[in-house]
Amino acid sequence: TYVIALPCVDVMDRACVEECPVDCIYEGGRSLYIHPDECVDCGACEPVCPVEAIFYEDDVPDEWEPYINDNAEFFTETLPGRDAPLGSPGGAAKLGPAESDAPLVTSLEPQAQ
Ligand code: F3S
Ligand code: F3S
Repeated sequence: TYVIALPCVDVMDRACVEECPVDCIYEGGRSLYIHPDECVDCGACEPVCPVEAIFYEDDVPDEWEPYINDNAEFFTETLPGRDAPLGSPGGAAKLGPAESDAPLVTSLEPQAQ
């Protein structure tokens, strides 16, 4: 899978969303998250991110490796304000944005723009 790391937080450019052929890039409150099971590794999202937040999982810089798990937990954890984990919705557009974030992103101070 591909992974969205720290540079997306509080930026949320969303250029990546337009590129994804399987609509597997989901919006939270402060970041977007790639669904690790729905991503087909096409790689189209990676070059269009203006802040270079997107990496193939094996290429995530060491300092941002925790974002691999955080992207997954956006779907497997019960987010604040929800009754159940998102699971595998099968498309971000029909789901719409979530108001909350995965645990690591939630813990971050506001990021300078
Ligand atoms: Fe975030 Fe970059 Fe997409 S800033 S929303 S990962 S284009
Ligand atoms: Fe979509 Fe990027 Fe995966 S475009 S299929 S999230 S590599």
